[in-house]
Amino acid sequence: MIGKAQGAPISITGLGAYVPSRIVTNDELSTMVDTNNEWIMERTGIRERRIAAPEEAFTDLALPAAKAALEQAELDAADLDLLLCATVTPDMMFPTSSALLADTLGAKDAAAYDLLAGCTGFMYALVQAYGMMAAGLAERALVVGGDVLSRILDWTDRSTVVLFGDGAGAVVLEKVDKPGFLGFELGADGGGGIHLSLPGSGSRRIEDASGNGFVHMNGREVFKFATRVLVSSAEAVLERCGVSVEDVDLYVPHQANVRIMDHAAAKLGIPRERMVVNVDRYGNTSSGSIPLALAEAQAGGRLKEGDLVLMTGMGAGLTWGSALMEWTG
Ligand code: ACO
Repeated sequence: MIGKAQGAPISITGLGAYVPSRIVTNDELSTMVDTNNEWIMERTGIRERRIAAPEEAFTDLALPAAKAALEQAELDAADLDLLLCATVTPDMMFPTSSALLADTLGAKDAAAYDLLAGCTGFMYALVQAYGMMAAGLAERALVVGGDVLSRILDWTDRSTVVLFGDGAGAVVLEKVDKPGFLGFELGADGGGGIHLSLPGSGSRRIEDASGNGFVHMNGREVFKFATRVLVSSAEAVLERCGVSVEDVDLYVPHQANVRIMDHAAAKLGIPRERMVVNVDRYGNTSSGSIPLALAEAQAGGRLKEGDLVLMTGMGAGLTWGSALMEWTG
């Protein structure tokens, strides 16, 4: 799916993020599995990640991120009419985390539901909220992306535990005077889905139950997929919107691995200083990755009115998605 944004100008008016306080360094990980700081830094660029406390679930991370985004937008939760949470680690399958979050926030008039598209969940939810608003079905939306992936990792599997972390980010979308979102591209390839899966997590009966409930990943295949789609998806949305890559002021790729991100930036021709990188401190936070990076970029003074912002996510499904926007301040 690819398209130029149509209808009323819609933009992000509030941003928020939250990560658990506990920091797990590479050295600490090397006391749990057969790995070391040098290998992890060289292959991924990840130095440390945040891991949720045993009592912390997805909505405990989503709530502070959502509150911060609402505060920045100067919006009362009661005025929201749409609340979407993108996550593969909801508190439980139902009630949905979106319904629980809406209740805690006091978003009593909001339609609320969860959306699942692997690490691309936030991008899918963003497009969905935009579409509902452009169609006139919603005026003000809150989109949260986040995950507590530490709950679904096999902590004896060194190939996955070194990559992921927990975190959440949130954005408020509202109608504005000038164009915010310019265009989107979303895609999926279930044929490659087996390379990143969570067996035993749904209605598919698995005869060999060993490893059920944990992330299974073919790292090399995911690496090849990631380096390909980060480039093709970004190029597709730029072309559709008639925007040259030189005009991109801020590039926010999914924070999966520094090598993957550097490869994409180089292929696209985006100078590294225009790319947001925080995977070194948080690891791959799945659906939390892009809003978390965007919120940090804003907090660091890297987002100015009129800046062209390109976001591209990719992940399980396999799925991918890009959004191009002009920052409206
Ligand atoms: N510590 C030390 N050694 C390790 C570790 C580890 N944590 N993991 C694997 N190794 C070893 C392997 O056993 C192998 O040893 P061998 O040569 O003796 O057989 C060696 O390191 C090389 O292994 P590779 O898998 O070939 O390493 P590679 O260079 O491909 O890097 C990595 C692995 C980092 C996982 C890479 O493939 C990658 O980044 N893939 C993409 C992963 C990703 O981004 N997933 C999530 C994206 S989607 C989403 O966000 C949900």
